[in-house]
Amino acid sequence: LKTLKIGLLGSGTVGIGVYKLVEAQREEMPHKIGANLSVKKVLVRDKTKKREGIDQCLLTDRFEDIIEDDDIQIVVEVMGGIEPARTYINAALKAGKHVVTANKDLIAEHGKELLDTASEHGCDLLFEAAVAGGIPILRPLKQCLAGNHLSEVMGIVNGTTNFILSKMTEEGMEFSDALMLATELGYAEADPTADIEGYDAGRKVAIMASIAFNSRVTFSDVYTEGITKITSRDIAYAKEMGCTIKLLGVAKNTPEGIEVRVHPMLIPSSHPLAKVDDSFNAVFVHGDAVDDAMFYGRGAGELPTASAIMGDVIDVARNIQFHCNGRISCTCYKELPIKKINE
Ligand code: NAP
Ligand code: HSE
Repeated sequence: LKTLKIGLLGSGTVGIGVYKLVEAQREEMPHKIGANLSVKKVLVRDKTKKREGIDQCLLTDRFEDIIEDDDIQIVVEVMGGIEPARTYINAALKAGKHVVTANKDLIAEHGKELLDTASEHGCDLLFEAAVAGGIPILRPLKQCLAGNHLSEVMGIVNGTTNFILSKMTEEGMEFSDALMLATELGYAEADPTADIEGYDAGRKVAIMASIAFNSRVTFSDVYTEGITKITSRDIAYAKEMGCTIKLLGVAKNTPEGIEVRVHPMLIPSSHPLAKVDDSFNAVFVHGDAVDDAMFYGRGAGELPTASAIMGDVIDVARNIQFHCNGRISCTCYKELPIKKINE
């Protein structure tokens, strides 16, 4: 049986999760994809650092070791940030390698460029893990709900801020202590400013809006306001009013254009979104045919995120086996106006 080889770019919280899942699923792969799957090389900055469960001899600090290895057909990018991730993904696609990434910063800003490169080279570029961690949301928007005119996608799409607000509300924890705990648990970004200022949620909203409304929305189109100004007094006032404070991301397709925003909102405590706690996320979608649909699950963390990545890797692997790569990543869209939001 043939073995499909993965080049893993990054071995932090998510990279280690991906490695663990590839190992855990080893015996199932022949039945799922008709081939074996293994990680051949792992790109890191510091080769001397110990990585849970990963054999030291797989580590490299040279991207060339992966791009020049013809045996590697699938590249999984879990380094984060714009550069060098953008250069590496473009290079991998141009070399005919399929790419799976969890990098919302990059997709929200340069998704079109990367999808065009993928398309030109007959490669897959998949990024389910970039939005809402372990919750399947991008595939449902692009495929399962494609028969709808989708008018709204909204919800809680950042695990770190939901964790912080939940801890402040339920346990009276201080903002800084809750952030520290979210970081220890692997939910926060390398620079948590992106989480607490609403930028991470804004990037996810841009990606969801682009797919749901079949248009092009980038992070710079999204109005963002984070949770740094929320105090324990705000939380207490919200409780007195029978409400909970949540950081919501909203994308609407209106006759005046696309409206995309992220900001804290007061939600009645009886509302389903008020009950989404810890690092969980939830996304509501409204379509003209399906009516309302809701997606719920773990929005961050090692294994939930690795779960979404493995789903993409398995899709890519099946496409390799059946010679049908490049089909999912094609981009046809209609440019819609973006509605200006007054602060
Ligand atoms: P992380 O823990 O900071 O890990 C990043 C890894 O990438 C580290 O192993 C680091 O190497 C490596 N790396 C970074 N820059 C590099 C470079 N220039 N060259 C070589 N290696 C480099 O980050 P993470 O939490 O796993 O997140 C990774 C990606 O997944 C990000 O795009 C993030 O937004 C996304 N994501 C994260 C989550 C989550 O819950 N954490 C969920 C969904 C999506 P060293 O170890 O040697 O420093
Ligand atoms: N930092 C992100 C969050 C990781 O807390 O939601 C998942 O994208």
